[in-house]
Amino acid sequence: MKSRPANQPCPAIRQNASSQSSKRSDRGRVPDTYHSSRRRTLSVLARAENSARMSSTAFGAIFAGALSLIIIASAIADSAAAQSAADPEAGRVVFQQCRACHSLSPSENGRGPTLYHLFGRMAGTVPGYFYSAAMKNSHIVWTAATLERYLADPREFVPGGTMAFAGINDRKDMKNLLAYLRQATR
Ligand code: HEC
Repeated sequence: MKSRPANQPCPAIRQNASSQSSKRSDRGRVPDTYHSSRRRTLSVLARAENSARMSSTAFGAIFAGALSLIIIASAIADSAAAQSAADPEAGRVVFQQCRACHSLSPSENGRGPTLYHLFGRMAGTVPGYFYSAAMKNSHIVWTAATLERYLADPREFVPGGTMAFAGINDRKDMKNLLAYLRQATR
């Protein structure tokens, strides 16, 4: 008997196997078509169900997205509120611009009048300080609102006034300064 390589199957077995497989597919053809049409119907149904599930998932995703947007927006609003909360310590730094001319101690006037007991005080009324006529006659009462306007643009709020200060442009600096003044001028 002739020897053949060990890794090659016997040709007789190979032939047998292939004929068996073709026979199997012959046998399967009729029911396969039947099954495949059934399968097609099922797959259409499955696809429809799937797409319904997907659209509900998509709705869920949109809903979740909207919800997280709301959460993020409210977080931003919170942090904005936290930012707009004035910081008197930061205001103390802003007040460095005023210190050259203003003291916070009673009856200690410099180039400008003392700011001691500033809130609620009528403008131009610190004893012993020589004000401009414009300030003296302005009838302003110093509150957060009037100070904010004066300190933003002194020349515009009190035309003819003598405070040589350009004004504070930064809103946050202004809020912080006012918070500091409220504490430090008591
Ligand atoms: C260069 C000096 C100078 C600087 C800097 C300055 N001021 Fe004045 N300030 C004056 C003078 C002068 C007056 C008086 C103005 C007048 O009589 O028209 C005055 C007036 C005022 C008044 C009115 C006081 C009152 O009794 O009616 C306030 C309030 C005030 N300053 C706040 C400030 C603040 C706060 C700062 C810093 C952001 C500042 N000033 C910076 C010189 C200065």
